[in-house]
Amino acid sequence: MTAVKPYPQTAMRDVPGSIVRPPYVGVMESEVYTGSDVQDPEIIEKMRIAGRIAADAILVTAKEIAPGVTTDHLDAVAHEFMCDHHAWPACLDYRGFPKSICTSVNEVICHGIPDQRPLEDGEIVKLDVTTYIDGVHGDNCATYFVGDVDKDARKLTEVTRDSMYRGIKVCKPGRPVSVIGRVIEKYAKRFRYGVVREYTGHGCHTAFHSGLVILHYDEPRLNTIMQPGMTFTVEPMLTLGSARTEQWDDGWTVVTRDRSRCAQFEQTLVVTETGTEILTVPSSGKLIQGGDPSLIDLSSIH
Ligand code: MF3
Ligand code: CO
Ligand code: CO
Repeated sequence: MTAVKPYPQTAMRDVPGSIVRPPYVGVMESEVYTGSDVQDPEIIEKMRIAGRIAADAILVTAKEIAPGVTTDHLDAVAHEFMCDHHAWPACLDYRGFPKSICTSVNEVICHGIPDQRPLEDGEIVKLDVTTYIDGVHGDNCATYFVGDVDKDARKLTEVTRDSMYRGIKVCKPGRPVSVIGRVIEKYAKRFRYGVVREYTGHGCHTAFHSGLVILHYDEPRLNTIMQPGMTFTVEPMLTLGSARTEQWDDGWTVVTRDRSRCAQFEQTLVVTETGTEILTVPSSGKLIQGGDPSLIDLSSIH
C-alpha cells in the first residue's frame, strides 16, 4: 500500500450570503466557551436538525465514493448539500481549515484536507462532516470502502463502528464520562487495535468544541458526571498498528507514524433521563453504518 501524499487543492468554496456563519469563521484563535455542558430542550431540538443534515450529507457524499474519484469532488458534493439545506459547513475556515469537510484516507487518522488526489481501489476513507445551522452544530464521521477492500481494513472498520456504539450505549446520567473510553479501549484491545489518544470527543452544541473532553481510552480521572441534556461527540479512531500520531507540515493532516491504517466513526448525542439519544440521525431514521457505499439508500433524503 503506497503512502498518501498531498495533492494540489482547489480554491476555497463560496457559501451563499444568506447562510449564517458561525462566530469563529475567519478567527484563528480557539473557541472559548464558558457556558454549561447541559443544553435546554430548544437547543437540542435545533441540534436534531443540524444533526440530520450532517448525517444526510455523509450519505449523499459517500454514495460518490469510487476508485478515481478525488476527495475534492467529495468536498464539493458535501458543500453543496449543506448549502442547499441552509447549513454552514462548519469545517470551512475553522481555525483556517481550507475545505468544507475532512476526508482522511488509509493511514490519515483525521483532519485530511480534500484535494485533487484520486481515491484508489482498496483504500478506506473517513468522511467527517459538521454542520452549523440555527446557532448549533451537528458533527459526525464514518469510514467507507473504495472498491475492493482487504479483510484487515473491513474488520477494523466494523470494530471501530461497534466500539463507538458500545461507548454510546453505556452513557447514562450519574455515570462519569470515563466509562465511554473504558468500554471503547477494552473492545479495541480484544482485536489488538491501537486507540488514538491525542484526538478526542468533545462537547458540541452552540460551540463546535466546547472544552468538555471525551477520551476514547481508559482514564478514570475524567470524572465529569453525565447529566440529562449534556451533548457531546463520541468519535473513536482505531488503528491496525500503532496509534502513535504525527502531523504533515500542512498543519492539519494527522497520520499514524507507522503508516498503519485507521478507521473512525463519530456521532453527536444528548444524554437523556435513561440513556442517550443520537442527534446525527439521517432522514431514513437508520443510523450510519459506513463500509460499502453501494449499500447506501438515499431515497428518503430530499
Ligand atoms: N469534525 C472534526 C471533529 O470531529 C473537527 C474538524 S475541524 C477541521 O471534531 F478544522 F479540521 F475541520
Ligand atoms: Co467531533
Ligand atoms: Co467530526
